[in-house]
Amino acid sequence: MNISIFGLGYVGAVTAGCLAELGHTIIGADVQPEKVDALNAGRSPVIEPELDDLLQKAKHDNRLRATKDAAEAVSASEVSMICVGTPSQESGRLNLAFVRKVSGQIAAAILQNGRRHMVIYRSTMLPGSTREMANEFFSDPRVCQMTQIFYCPEFLREGTAARDFREPSLMVMGTHDGSAPENAGAQTLLGGKPAMLTWEGAELIKYSCNYFHALKVGFANEIGRLCKHLGEDGSRIMDVLCTDAKLNISRYYMQPGNPFGGSCLPKDVSALKSFARMEGVSMPLLDNTLDTNQAHLAALIQLITSKEKRRIGLLGLAFKADTDDLRNSPMVAVAEMLLGRGYELHIYDPQLNLARLIGVNASEIQRRMPHLASLLRSSPREVVEKCEVIVASQKCARLDELMIAARPDHCIIDVNGWSELKMLPCKYEGACW
Ligand SMILES: NC(=O)c1ccc[n+]([C@@H]2O[C@H](COP(=O)([O-])OP(=O)(O)OC[C@H]3O[C@@H](n4cnc5c(N)ncnc54)[C@H](O)[C@@H]3O)[C@@H](O)[C@H]2O)c1
Repeated sequence: MNISIFGLGYVGAVTAGCLAELGHTIIGADVQPEKVDALNAGRSPVIEPELDDLLQKAKHDNRLRATKDAAEAVSASEVSMICVGTPSQESGRLNLAFVRKVSGQIAAAILQNGRRHMVIYRSTMLPGSTREMANEFFSDPRVCQMTQIFYCPEFLREGTAARDFREPSLMVMGTHDGSAPENAGAQTLLGGKPAMLTWEGAELIKYSCNYFHALKVGFANEIGRLCKHLGEDGSRIMDVLCTDAKLNISRYYMQPGNPFGGSCLPKDVSALKSFARMEGVSMPLLDNTLDTNQAHLAALIQLITSKEKRRIGLLGLAFKADTDDLRNSPMVAVAEMLLGRGYELHIYDPQLNLARLIGVNASEIQRRMPHLASLLRSSPREVVEKCEVIVASQKCARLDELMIAARPDHCIIDVNGWSELKMLPCKYEGACW
């Protein structure tokens, strides 16, 4: 396949070398003459292991050239990959000027050539950017019918980029509606079976990955600073932490849903935060961890009250399923707040037997919700029958029990990813989806 690559910086040069290695013919396009000259000479414009060899070979095999002329690059290819820079403006906002410029050039060339063309955006762009480009430059029906547009983020790391290209950590393809393209050409180009998302989803996953990486680095460094302060070896502590593949380095806890709660996380995060403060170790991520949980709780309450109904049912009150632990349960906070604002509440939690609660678990709930007994219902059906909005924070009922009482005017808010709730004959809304 003939592929034009717009932007011969880091990503563009690596993409050129690796696609040439797969047997494609590459036409590089850049506004900087030095980069165009480098590619034409079979040299890499950036320092990266393997890249000089890959480009030299491509040049030798007559499968590599570069130009400053965008129209020429599009004319000579069936696919255009956009790898131009997307720098931050002084305000921190993303600058799409380079993407916009090449999008316009590619669209004009497609119109002029009158041939089908595939456009693949690889530059990192905020959600909505690909759609913006599609609307701005490719919406002319004559261009639109000849163009397929994808957003395929790049996950390579400098220093191991060629290897990352061949063995990607993740492959994602965004289309206008999230469905897989009928012709598999674009997927084949990526060399595997990418996860399909909408343009916006694919754009968002790139930022989510980088945010997560940044968060991990920040977390490890905060733990490292605290360790050093205490005379401990931070590397060793993190090594040991990473040996736990069940809870630490795993999918566990990696689902949006309930705010965290219970007898451990809020207490321990709080204790470590005040300890670090007293020790004079700055740990801003730790400092803000309780705040982010509070913001999530506030968003949930806002979602419930936005329904403008007065009778609210809670499925699950304990901090998670299969326990009667009410200590620091987010749903207790939700219940307290709703009661305080005069809402009528009905609660079902199969694990709760107030007579059997003991210790702090009993005293805390007695203090926070002294009338809890009068709000507890013995079946999920009763809760659904009596309420207009049902908030499900746990899978604590059978679907058929809910089905009996569910009506079209009911609204069910799923806080914990219980997707079967969508089958109920009522309005469904997820907390984060
Ligand atoms: N560097 C990485 O490791 C990496 C990894 C994944 C994603 N990304 C993303 O990929 C994109 C490119 O990153 P990079 O590091 O290669 O950027 P870069 O700044 O090194 O290169 C961008 C290139 O685009 C060229 N360019 C600008 N306007 C142009 C135009 N109108 N026509 C043709 N070329 C033009 C520039 O001259 C430059 O050579 C960015 O959005 C970046 O966020 C980078």
